[in-house]
Amino acid sequence: MGVLTVRRLFTIFIFFLCCLTAIVEAQKLKTFTQVSGPFNDTSYYYDIFEVEKPATISNDALQVTPDSASADFNLTYNSGRVLLNRAFKLWNGDSASNTSRVASFNSSFLVNIYPLQKDTAGEGLAFLIAPDLDLPHNSYGEYLGLTNSTTDGNSSNRLVAVELDTHKQDFDPDANHVGLDINGVRSVVAESLTPYGIELVPMDPRFYNVWVNYDGIKKVIEVYIAEQAEKWGPTPSMPSTPILRSDLDLKDVVNQYSHFGFSASTGNATQLNCVLRWNLTVHYFPEKNHPWLKIVLGVGVPVVVLLLIGVVALAYIHRRRRMRNSNPNILGALKSLPGMPREFDFRDLKKATNNFDDKNKLGQGGYGVVYKGLLASENLEIAVKWFSRESIKGQDDFLAELTIINRLRHKHLVRLLGWCHKNNNLLLVYEYMPNCSLDKHLFAGAKTESLSWKLRYKIISGVASALQYLHNEFDQKVVHRDLKASNIMLDSNFNARLGDFGLARALDNEKTSYAEAEGVLGTIGYIAPECFHTGKATQQSDVYAFGAVLLEVVCGLRPGTKIEGFQFLVDWVWSLHRQDQLSDAVDVRLGDDYVVDEAERILLLGLACSHPIASERPKTQAIVQIISGTVPTPHVPPFKPAFVWPAMLPVDGDTTTANTTSITTSQYSSGWSPQSLLSDQYPLV
Ligand SMILES: *[C@@H]1O[C@H](CO)[C@@H](O)[C@H](O)[C@H]1NC(C)=O
Ligand SMILES: *[C@@H]1O[C@H](CO)[C@@H](O)[C@H](O)[C@H]1NC(C)=O
Ligand SMILES: *[C@@H]1O[C@H](CO)[C@@H](O)[C@H](O)[C@H]1NC(C)=O
Ligand SMILES: *[C@@H]1O[C@H](CO)[C@@H](O)[C@H](O)[C@H]1NC(C)=O
Ligand SMILES: *[C@@H]1O[C@H](CO)[C@@H](O)[C@H](O)[C@H]1NC(C)=O
Ligand SMILES: *[C@@H]1O[C@H](CO)[C@@H](O)[C@H](O)[C@H]1NC(C)=O
Ligand SMILES: *[C@@H]1O[C@H](CO)[C@@H](O)[C@H](O)[C@H]1NC(C)=O
Ligand SMILES: *[C@@H]1O[C@H](CO)[C@@H](O)[C@H](O)[C@H]1NC(C)=O
Repeated sequence: MGVLTVRRLFTIFIFFLCCLTAIVEAQKLKTFTQVSGPFNDTSYYYDIFEVEKPATISNDALQVTPDSASADFNLTYNSGRVLLNRAFKLWNGDSASNTSRVASFNSSFLVNIYPLQKDTAGEGLAFLIAPDLDLPHNSYGEYLGLTNSTTDGNSSNRLVAVELDTHKQDFDPDANHVGLDINGVRSVVAESLTPYGIELVPMDPRFYNVWVNYDGIKKVIEVYIAEQAEKWGPTPSMPSTPILRSDLDLKDVVNQYSHFGFSASTGNATQLNCVLRWNLTVHYFPEKNHPWLKIVLGVGVPVVVLLLIGVVALAYIHRRRRMRNSNPNILGALKSLPGMPREFDFRDLKKATNNFDDKNKLGQGGYGVVYKGLLASENLEIAVKWFSRESIKGQDDFLAELTIINRLRHKHLVRLLGWCHKNNNLLLVYEYMPNCSLDKHLFAGAKTESLSWKLRYKIISGVASALQYLHNEFDQKVVHRDLKASNIMLDSNFNARLGDFGLARALDNEKTSYAEAEGVLGTIGYIAPECFHTGKATQQSDVYAFGAVLLEVVCGLRPGTKIEGFQFLVDWVWSLHRQDQLSDAVDVRLGDDYVVDEAERILLLGLACSHPIASERPKTQAIVQIISGTVPTPHVPPFKPAFVWPAMLPVDGDTTTANTTSITTSQYSSGWSPQSLLSDQYPLV
C-alpha cells in the first residue's frame, strides 16, 4: 500500500472509533432533577421560577392565582403562571423525519385546591409545557391560564397541559376531572375523578399528589393521583394504575426548547390554586450537537459499516494526495523545522469564531475577511484571517514563506500563531489586537477621540522600527509589500504592530500585482510609482508607503484625499512646504496639542519618503534616526520631482531635469527575488 502503511490505517480506524464514541456520547440524554418545596418567597425561588403576576410565592406554596392573603388582588377573573426559567431541549433532529427522538420526564407535585365560596369553585390548575414564559392576555376563567378566546385550539400555541378542572364548561364531563390539553382547553382526553373517590375541591382542605409521567420512547403520557394524608406528611406511593393514559408525541406539539410549570385561573367562582411541592426529572437532549451528527444518524443504524467505508475512502484520498505531491518529503521536512508555524484544526477555528459569525468580523480587506476568535482551550484571543484567494500556488512554497514570517520576532510586528489549510481554504491565525488598526482611529470620525500627538509619534516610531527590523536586522531581507494604515495594528497600549507582511508574495508567487491585490482606490496612494512598471515590491517601495503613512498620521487624511485641487494628499503637503506653511497640514483635530518641531520633521520625512525616484528616498536606517531626532531632517525640494521611466540617475536637485541613464531593475529588487528566499533557506528543495 505504499505510503499508506498499516499503522496509518490503524490510526485512522482508531480515530473513527473515537468519533463513534463521541457521537454516542453526544446522543446521550442529560438528566435534570429538581426537588422543590416547601416554597419560601426568597430570591432562591424567584431566580429559578418565572412567577407571572398575579401568581405569587407565599404561605409555603406557589400560589398560581392569588391567595386570600394577597389583598392587592381581586380573587375573581385571574390567571397566572409559574414556570421554570430554564428551557429544555425536548426532542432531537428534524421534526419531520422519523429518526428524531423525544425526551422523557417524570413530574410529581402536591396540590391543595381550596374553594372560597361555599358551593362553587373555579376554574382549575394545570401542569404545563409551554414554549415561552408569557402568560396570554385574558386567559382567566375557562382558559386556565393556558390560552384565551383568540388563541384557544391554535396549533401555534405549542402547549401540552394536564388540567385539574374544577368548573364545568359545556365541553367538560363534570366539575371534577383531569384532562390532557393540547393547544387548547378542550381536553383531548378527560377522565372524571369522582369514581376514584377524589374530590379536587372538598370543603375541608385535602392534599393530592399528582404524578405526570411521560415516556419519550413509547410516546405515552400517564397521570396518577393519590391523596396525601397530611400537608407535610409522607408522600403516598404512586398508584399502580394511571387515571389517565394517552399516546402523545411531544415532538408534534411542543417547541424543541420548552418550559415546565403550572398555570391556573379563577372566574366568577374562585379557588386557591396552591402547589406545595414539585419534583421534576427530565431526561433531555444536550443543547449542542455536531451538525454532522444528524447526517450520520439519519443514514441509519449501520454506522460502523459507514465508518469503515469512510476509513477506506479516507485512506484512498490520503494515498492519492501523497502520490500527487511531487516531493513527499518537503512537508515532513518543513514540519520538523523549529520555526514551523503551528497548524490549526479547522474545527477549532470554526468553534473559536463561533462558526465565522458575522458578529465576530473584525474587518475585510483585499485578501479576505478577518474574524475575532477565542481558543477556549487555551483562553487565547486570536484574529483569524480567511483568505478569499481560491488557490494557493504550491503548498510547499507557501509553507516556506510562512515559515519565514513565523520566524520574525519583533515587538512591533503582529505575531503569526499558525495557519490552517482545508479544502483549498487558507486561514492564518494571528495574535488578537484589541485596539484594531490605525485607520480605525485616524478616520473614525467625530465620534471617537482622535489620537493624541504623543500616541501618533509613538505609533510612527514603532512602525519605523518594525520596518528597520524587516529590512536590515532580520537575517534575511524581508519586504513588507503592503504597508498602509489598515495593516498597522494597535495593541492594548497603542503600540504599533505591523501585520500582514510578506503575504502578497506568499499568496501569489509569480507577480505582486498591486492593482489586482487591492481594488480599493483609497490604497492607491501607498504604491510607489515605479511599482506600476516593475510590478515588484522593494525596500524603497516600502519606504514610499511608509511616507504615505507618515503624512496620513500627521494630517489625519487618507493618502488619496483630493484636497484644494490636488489629486493626492502628498501633493497638497508639498505645496504647503513650498509656501513654508507646513503646519497648516497638521490634523485640525489636534488643535494646538502637538509639538510643532516634531510635526514638521515628520511631514518633511513623509515628503522625502514620497520621492518619486526610488533611490532618492531615505533608507530605513536613516528614517529611524530622523524620527528619534538624532539626525537632521533631509532636504526636501520645494517642488515634487517628476517621475521618469525608465528611471533616471539620482540627481541632486529640486527640478525635474531628466537624466537618461536608466537603472537596472535588479537594483530595485534588492535582496528579494522570488527564488532567493527558498534556496537560501531550504537547500533541501
Ligand atoms: C428557601 O428555600 C430554599 C430552597 O429550599 C433554601 O435553600 C433556602 O434556605 C430557604 N430560605 C429560607 C429563608 O428559608
Ligand atoms: C372583582 O372584580 C369583579 C369584576 O372585575 C367585580 O365584579 C367585583 O366586584 C370585584 N370584587 C372586589 C372585591 O373588588
Ligand atoms: C415516517 O413514518 C410515517 C408513519 O409512521 C410513515 O408513513 C413514513 O413512510 C415514514 N417515513 C420515512 C421516511 O420512513
Ligand atoms: C419515570 O418513572 C418510571 C417509573 O415509574 C421510570 O421507569 C422512568 O425511568 C422515569 N423516567 C424519568 C425520566 O425519570
Ligand atoms: C420528591 O422527592 C423527594 C426527595 O427525593 C421525595 O422525598 C418525595 O417523596 C418526592 N415527592 C414525590 C411526590 O414524588
Ligand atoms: C390572546 O392572547 C394573545 C397573546 O397574548 C393576544 O395577542 C390576544 O389579544 C389575546 N386575545 C384576547 C381576546 O385577549
Ligand atoms: C393561529 O395563530 C397564528 C399565529 O398567531 C395565526 O396566524 C393563525 O391565523 C391562527 N390560526 C387560526 C385557525 O386561528
Ligand atoms: C357569579 O356567581 C354568583 C354566585 O356566586 C351567581 O349568582 C352569578 O350568576 C354568577 N355570575 C355569572 C356571570 O356566572
